[in-house]
Order: sequence, then C-alpha cells, then structure tokens
Amino acid sequence: MFNREKNDPKRVPMMPVRELVIFPGQMNPFIVGREGSVRALEEALAGDKRIFLATQHDASIDDPKPEDIYTVGTIANIVQSVKLPDGNIRVLVEGVERAKIVDISTTEGFFRATLKLVPVKSEPSPENEQLVRRVRELFEQYVKLSQAVNYDTVIAAARVEDPGQISDAIAANVTLPFEEKQELLEMFDPVERLNQLAKILDVELEKLNVERNINSRVKRQMERAQKEYYLNEKMKAIQKELGRGEKNETDELKKKIDSAGMPKDVHEKAIQELKRLEMMPPMSAESTVSRNYLDWLIAVPWKKKSKEIRDIAVAEKILEEDHYGLDKIKERILEYLAVRQLVKVPKGSILCFVGPPGVGKTSLANSIGRATGRKFVRVSLGGVRDEAEIRGHRRTYIGALPGQIIQMMKKAGTINPVFVLDEVDKMSMDFRGDPSAALMEVLDPELNDAFTDHYLDVEYNLSQVMFICTANVLHTIPQPLQDRMEVIRLPGYTEMEKLEIAKRFLVKKQREANGLSDANIVFTDDGLRHIIRHYTHESGVRNLEREIANCCRKISRRVVKEGKEVRVEVTPATVSEYLGIMKFREIWKEKKNEIGLAIGLAWTEVGGQVLVTEAQIMEGKGRLTLTGKLGDVMQESGQAALSYVRSRSANFGLPKDFYRHIDIHMHVPEGAIPKDGPSAGITICTAIVSALTRIPTRVDVAMTGEITLRGNVLPIGGIKEKLLAAHRVGIRTVIIPKDNEKDLVDIPAEILSVLTVKPVESMDEVLEYALEAPLHTAVPPPVPEVSAVFEPKEDKSLTN
Ligand SMILES: Nc1ncnc2c1ncn2[C@@H]1O[C@H](COP(=O)(O)OP(=O)(O)OP(=O)(O)O)[C@@H](O)[C@H]1O
Ligand SMILES: [Mg+2]
Repeated sequence: MFNREKNDPKRVPMMPVRELVIFPGQMNPFIVGREGSVRALEEALAGDKRIFLATQHDASIDDPKPEDIYTVGTIANIVQSVKLPDGNIRVLVEGVERAKIVDISTTEGFFRATLKLVPVKSEPSPENEQLVRRVRELFEQYVKLSQAVNYDTVIAAARVEDPGQISDAIAANVTLPFEEKQELLEMFDPVERLNQLAKILDVELEKLNVERNINSRVKRQMERAQKEYYLNEKMKAIQKELGRGEKNETDELKKKIDSAGMPKDVHEKAIQELKRLEMMPPMSAESTVSRNYLDWLIAVPWKKKSKEIRDIAVAEKILEEDHYGLDKIKERILEYLAVRQLVKVPKGSILCFVGPPGVGKTSLANSIGRATGRKFVRVSLGGVRDEAEIRGHRRTYIGALPGQIIQMMKKAGTINPVFVLDEVDKMSMDFRGDPSAALMEVLDPELNDAFTDHYLDVEYNLSQVMFICTANVLHTIPQPLQDRMEVIRLPGYTEMEKLEIAKRFLVKKQREANGLSDANIVFTDDGLRHIIRHYTHESGVRNLEREIANCCRKISRRVVKEGKEVRVEVTPATVSEYLGIMKFREIWKEKKNEIGLAIGLAWTEVGGQVLVTEAQIMEGKGRLTLTGKLGDVMQESGQAALSYVRSRSANFGLPKDFYRHIDIHMHVPEGAIPKDGPSAGITICTAIVSALTRIPTRVDVAMTGEITLRGNVLPIGGIKEKLLAAHRVGIRTVIIPKDNEKDLVDIPAEILSVLTVKPVESMDEVLEYALEAPLHTAVPPPVPEVSAVFEPKEDKSLTN
C-alpha cells in the first residue's frame, strides 16, 4: 500500500464500472467481460490485488474514454475471481478507500490511474454522535420496511462507531440510483455524508410507507375478490346441479328489454344494467336492486298508445251521458278537446277543475278519459309534502321506488292516458323539498317531454299525457302552477239541478249497486227534494247520493227477507222511516229578528256557507274580541268595522266616547271551520251597529262585502256559491256589493226568481236593508255605570 501520511500519488490499474458505486468497506460481486477491464484485472491480480473502480457517467458506452468516467472512485481489494465458462470473470471485491484521479494513462490496452487519497477524518463530538444515532435509527427502520436489504449487513453496519465508516456502510446498503450514490461517494466529509444520508433516508422511508399501505390495501381487495369469485363459481355450480340455469333469466330479461320499445339511450342503459346484473352474485341484495330497476324500466310504457277517439260528436255524447247540466263546462271541455286535435302541443293545456266537494270534478275527468278513448289514472296529491313522492327516491336508498307519476304511468300501461291529479290544492311543502316544483316539470308542456324520475334516472316523455287537475280552492295552489292551468270552475248545484241529477243518475246507480229492480224502490220528486233539503247541506251531491244509498240498502234487506215483491215509494212522509229524523231543519223559518245578530255569506272549501255573526256588548275598557277561528284578514275587517262605527257615532245616536266603557265581543260560530277573507266586513259592522243601537237585524237578509274605513262596500269573490248557499237555507234577500252585480249573469234564473238581490255601495244602504227599523229610532245605548276603578286614565286605542 502507498503511504497515506505523505499522500504519494500512486498508479493503480483501473476498471470503469457501469451503474455501480463501491464504497469503502463494501463487499460486492460483479461480472467482468470487457477486454480492457479483464486486462486491468489480470494486472492487479499479478500485483498486490488492488484495483481502482470508477463509475461511468453513461452506462450505455461500451468503450469509455477517461472523460466519460467520474473522477472519484474506490480502491478495492480483489477477494476472489472465478473464470466463467462463457469467458467472463466473476469477481468479488472489497472497497478499501476512496480516491481521486489525478491522471489516467492508457498503455497496454487498459487504464492506469494516478490517484490521490482523501484523508478526511471527523472529530468525535456530541453532535456527531447524535447524528450517527439518528442515521442509524432511520436506517434500521428502512431495513424493516424494505425487505431488499439483508439484515446481517445492518448488524454489521450498526456495530461500527466511526462516522466515516458507518456512513459508507449505510450508503452502500441503501437502494439508490447510482448517480446519487456517486454524490455520496464524492462527499469526503463524513458529517456532510451523514446529513445527506439522513435526508435520503427520510424520503425513502416516506416512499416505503406509502408503498406498504397501497400494497396491503391491494392485497385485502384481492383476497375479497378471490373469495367472492370462488363462492360465485360454487353457487353457479350448485344452481346448475339444481337445474336452475341463470342464463335463461338474463336471456328473458334481454328479450323483454328489446321488446319494450325503449328510446335508444334508455335501451343502452338497460343493457348496461343487465350486464352488471350478470356479474353480481344472484342472491345478493345488490342484484335484487338491479333486477327491480330493470323490471321498472321494462314495465313503464315507452311506446304503447291507446287509439284516440277523435270524433267530437262521440265525446259530446259521452259527456252528456255521464253528467247532467254543467252545460258551459261541457262546452269548454269540447272546445279544449278540439284544440288538442288541431294543435300538437297546445300551451297551458292543463285543465283544472275547481269547486266544492261532490260536484263531479273527478267523475268529469273520468268521463273525458272515456270520451277520448284513453286510459284513466288518478293520483291524489292531498297531503303530499315530499318531492320524492312525485319524483321518487334515488336507487341508492334502501327500498327506493319511482314517484307517483311513473307508478301511475306503469298502471296506465300507455303513454297517453288521462292523468288526474286530484286535490292539487292540498299539497304542502316542507324541508324535504317542494312537490309543486316537481309538479311544474310534470305539467309544463315545454319541460314534460323530458321528465326525470330520481329512481328511473332516465328521461321520460310525458308530453302525450292529458293532465287534469282538481282542487277545492285555487288560492293555495302556487301561482306558477296556476299559470300552467286552464281553470274551470264548478260552483255547485241548485236544488233543482240536484233533483235532476238524483233522478237521472244517482237513483239508478244506487239501485244497481244494491241489487234492486226499478220496481223495488221508487223515489218521488217530493221525496227527493225532502232528502235534499232536510238530510243534506252541501254544494255537491255526494251526501245526497249517500242518503239515497242508505234508503236502497234498507230496502235490499227487506227484499232478502220478504222476497222480490217488495214495493216501496220514498215520499216526504216516508223518508224518515229510512233515514231517521231530519238532519237539517229549516231553522231559518223559525228564527226571529234579533239584536246584535247578522247573517253573513262566506265562501269556503266546501262551497258557499251561511255564517251567523253575533256581537255582544259588555262593561269594559274598549276592547274588541273576535272568536270563532277567524283568520287575520277577518280580524282586520273587524277592526275596520269598529273604526267606522266610532267615526260615525253621531249618526248612530251614540256618545262620542261610547267605546271607552265597553268591550265588544264578536263571535262567528259554525263549528271549528277556519274562516278568513275580507267579505265579512259589512256583516260584522251590521252586528256591531245593531248591538250598539239596540235595533234588531232582519234574519231573512244575508250579506257579503268588504268594508272600508269610510263605509264604502267593495266587491268580493264567489258570488254564485254564496247565493246558492243563501237560497239553500231559505233566505229571501241578499245584499251584495254593487261592483258584483255583473256576476249575476251566471246565476240560474230559478234562484234569481226567489231571491231579492240588493246591490249596495255604502254601509248606510246595508243598514237600511238589514236593520228592522230605521236608525233614527235607536234607543240610547246601554252604557253601564262605570266605577272609578274602571275609568281608563288615558285614551287608549282599541285593541283586541
Ligand atoms: N252533474 C252530474 N251529473 C251526474 N252525476 C254527478 C254530477 N255531478 C256529480 N255527480 C256524481 O257525484 C259523485 C261525486 O262526484 P265526484 O267524486 O266527481 O266529486 P268531486 O268533485 O271530485 O269531489 P271532491 O272534491 O270531494 O273530490 C259522483 O258519483 C258523480 O258521478
Ligand atoms: Mg274528487
């Protein structure tokens, strides 16, 4: 060996190596084949067995020049060399020392390098010790994670203490690209080397950790997939043994999908789903979901269509057959049908029947179905508050189903049924979404050719469907929905109309329903009228039908008992035998004029109603109380009425401050029916005036109208319903706002012939008709003696 102290340059045989960096202390075998290298090796073996190993910059160069080789390399001891049968030599070298090339010569066909040693030794210090410990720990972790390194070498490496030696030992055993290893080799200062190693090991550890996580995840998945595959195969084999080939089922489904007439994209989706289904274990929950979905896709009509009856004359005949009266409405319906035939996508073409219960809204819609030859389906939206009821739940929910629209389309089985949306006014909304928004998509002719149900998850064309909505009132239907509808009002029937309906339809229907012959039971006109007057109290005919059914049932029982010869005639005298005592007596005829009572007319969901309004004066402090389930608008009408009375107190012969010592209580009985709207204004006012002036009101006069603070009477809605109600209870005079006079054209003549209608503009006129005696006959109001305790200190405004 050459003298380290003097650092004499020495010439040593040199071998360029590819992608390999040998560190001092490292034992490494490799194969030598290039001619120059073999010569250098032979030369070394002939001498002191030392050889200088330096790495090529570019491994692909077979015949490197001196400039292609890194200038720092390692002097190594050749421990062993074996000649292989193919002529190559396998050598085992042990790194001894790093050295820097000073010069390279090429004589005799191989390199000889003139070298300079790099004598760097680090001083032992606490920091260095700590650094050594840290790198050693990192390396240990590294070894544990990467199974590439032999554990023994670690032990060997871990034992050395010297920073230079340990850094070389570790650098030799970490898997790194040769460029990075060369960098480490060129760092002569052991501390610098250790620092670099710490950095490298940190990064490598991070990489190994990530890799390990991925590996274990992949492994777990592989295991599960293998298990499932194995079980599936087993299941298939078992099913085959049992003779239940699942192949048939998919074939069958495929056939059904192909023949369902689906649009292209839906068909594609179905086929895709079928493929997924095939891959699934047949008994799994997943496959049930998938199969159900396919069943729905197949069951919904995509192409099938009822042949439409396009003859308006036929439609007219059928409408006439099913319903009595309703002439204007039938006309509207026929016009509507005509337009639908001429225009392909008529705008705003959704019919909406609005009216009280039992006036035939649903049955008219049914008739339209019959008249146009379409299928008829009906869905009730009453109480629907969840968008999902219309549009369905996504398939990912357990037990998900399509919404009502798609369910009903499946029931109809054709793409062009008459689709009745009953009770659209009873829909509500909450946090689960607004069903009316979904309904809008259903009803809008511009949107409904691509209706999406959450469950089906494909576009469905509803444009051929004929939608008809029914509602009791209009004001609870959201405005955007109303905009898409053509509203047709059915206000209710007069007594005569009800009689006709009963004679022509209801009696016949109930006779049949109860298995009676025409002879078994006969209703006389007077008998029916008696039932209408004293057993029903409604705008429609539903209760009437029910009472007729009641009679029929009783007779059926007798027929069973006594034989087919039973003959019964229902007359006013015999009705009570079948229906019990009268439910509604004409109490109006028995009512007397009274103080503080006024008869109002209201328009509620169940049609027109007569409301008796009472006012009572008590000792008090000027409070106005209104009871009887009154809405805000009605409460405000009460306030307005009282303000009007106060401002006109002189006219009524009242002292200016009359209100200070009294409380007024207004009550509108009639059960717990919620009442609202401004049309009770003049009624409340009349009751207050009557109570204050002690002049009784006329009980045969009913009224409706909004009042202003100045006592003007403003127009209101629902005149026809209100007049029908007044007529029903036997009232003879009705006060209405002058501006509503135009509505009288809709009122049947038979009603106008018995009702006296008084159109008014001001409260004075109302009082003139409603009070029994003129105002100037008023007796002084019974203002109670007021004790000092009750004396109000200041002029408080009235509150209720
Ligand atoms: N003009 C009419 N001619 C013949 N029958 C009628 C007529 N109007 C109503 N009916 C009959 O009255 C019954 C009740 O009618 P329907 O069920 O259509 O009421 P509706 O208006 O839909 O009430 P609801 O608002 O309660 O749903 C039905 O049996 C119907 O045939
Ligand atoms: Mg109905």
